Amino acid sequence: MELIRRLHLMREAVRKARAEGKKIAFVPTMGALHDGHLALVRRARELGDIVVVSIFVNPEQFGPDEDYDTYPRDLARDTDLCVEEHVDFIFAPDPKEMYPDGFRTYVEVEGLSSILEGASRPGFFRGVCTAVLKLLSVVNPHFAFFGQKDMQQAVIVQTMVRDLNLNVEIVLCPTVRDDDGVALSSRNVRLNVSERVSAMALRRALERGRVLIEDQGVSSVEEVETKVRDVLGADESIKIDYFAVVDPVSLERPETIGGEVLLLLAVWIGQTRLIDNISACPEPPDEAE
Ligand code: PAJ
Repeated sequence: MELIRRLHLMREAVRKARAEGKKIAFVPTMGALHDGHLALVRRARELGDIVVVSIFVNPEQFGPDEDYDTYPRDLARDTDLCVEEHVDFIFAPDPKEMYPDGFRTYVEVEGLSSILEGASRPGFFRGVCTAVLKLLSVVNPHFAFFGQKDMQQAVIVQTMVRDLNLNVEIVLCPTVRDDDGVALSSRNVRLNVSERVSAMALRRALERGRVLIEDQGVSSVEEVETKVRDVLGADESIKIDYFAVVDPVSLERPETIGGEVLLLLAVWIGQTRLIDNISACPEPPDEAE
């Protein structure tokens, strides 16, 4: 495994591998790796000959009041994990080389970037898309892997790839959860014991929504919203930022639930903001019993 910090060296390593006919599989991350990230790395190992993991805490996707300075960073531990997973390259560029003085070009996926996460975190997806496009430009992979844990991000990246004709296949990987149902996240380390118990309500609430749609045939968006919010509201330490039932491609709220939908939520538990989501698909009427 090789750690690369400079953009031109990363380009060169990939150019050589491509010249040998190797398939490049790329996993962009902000480090503090956990089993959710490693699931992406394992999928990348299956599909690629060369696996590149980027570790870059991207300043452009943090708002002024967000946790850029205190975001968990542990390159030594991340390196050990990548060695265990037979990663070929860690790409850990310097923010000053990614965003040198005079940097002024940004990518915005209109509409999709300003709703849900984007409404709560202005500029977040502009920062994500700009960094992902730059990383894709340097690493030039055949495949890039994203987690369904950040479903809106995945939809927006897929839209950017389509709209800008980027020559990369985006591979989505399912959300990895702890045994208690809490989706793995680098920010979970900030939860104290009682907050951790509260965090279990997220999955419970989403599951409730899924059962309403899939098993009980509920097609009213309002009914699902009310009942899911009730589950979250039962825990006083949870403050709902948003809960939404949306179309999986347009991320718009449907009139009624007639096909696959995404249930997306963001909450505050104490000082920690958590997001989670699930997809639900009602049984087609002709197959219903
Ligand atoms: P980060 O939060 O480090 O996540 C990197 C990738 O891991 C993302 O695709 C995310 O969806 C995936 N991931 C995180 N937790 C997961 C879980 N529990 N199960 C499955 N996948 C999970 O997302 C980012 O970094 C950044 O925005 C980035 C794309 C790197 C751009 O800076």
